[in-house]
Amino acid sequence: MDLADIIKERKSIRAFKSDPVPRQKVEEVLALAARAPSAINLQPWEFTVVVGEERDRLSRRLLKAYREKRISCSPGNVKPLPGVFAARGVASFKGMKPCLDEIGLDFDTYISEGSCNFYGAPVAVVMCLDNSFSHARLVDIGLCLGYLVLAAHHLGLWTCPIGLIADYKDEVKEMLNIPDDKDVVVSAALGYPDWGHPINRFTSPRDGLDTMVRWIE
Ligand SMILES: Cc1cc2nc3c(=O)[nH]c(=O)nc-3n(C[C@H](O)[C@H](O)[C@H](O)COP(=O)(O)O)c2cc1C
Repeated sequence: MDLADIIKERKSIRAFKSDPVPRQKVEEVLALAARAPSAINLQPWEFTVVVGEERDRLSRRLLKAYREKRISCSPGNVKPLPGVFAARGVASFKGMKPCLDEIGLDFDTYISEGSCNFYGAPVAVVMCLDNSFSHARLVDIGLCLGYLVLAAHHLGLWTCPIGLIADYKDEVKEMLNIPDDKDVVVSAALGYPDWGHPINRFTSPRDGLDTMVRWIE
């Protein structure tokens, strides 16, 4: 598959089969992700790969924390979003709703609890940034995540970025023995899709370039 097809076909998967992913395959994905560019080639990303019983323990802890604190998936904006962005969120929600109606679950329950459970994926990759870096280096982590999801797709794996875990960073750090000087930024669920699950029929829309590009000539 060429790169354009990989980009077009990739989407976030929100119901995985429990089939394990061979360690060598995860390493291949991470080696490709680590080819991402970074400022001054500092490669600031640090991966913690969580599988097996440890993955299940992490999910149980996150679910418990979610049920106590009820911090849900949200864009984390600091003031109300301009209409165009808010509308995109609503469009995605509307597109996903019929799939969730089919299984009788509301958005918040399925997405927040599902995110805590990495949607059943056998592999969770947690990405950290040393706190000696400035926030500008979050750009590098995001870029690496972008490489990761595409590299995974190239290798026959599917993903869902999970940002929600950053809201439960204390629990994540405690469970995974992540040192105090590392910030939990984001994670990715990695595995094989359960194509029989209605949620995986959902493909998120994209607005046209006219809504996001300004040419100055
Ligand atoms: C930084 C980041 C954090 C995200 N966090 C979550 C999350 O916690 N839970 C979730 O279900 N999806 C999460 N997503 C997936 C987005 O919702 C998804 O990428 C977006 O709706 C576009 O859909 P697509 O990936 O299928 O193209 C996250 C994506 C990014 C880039």
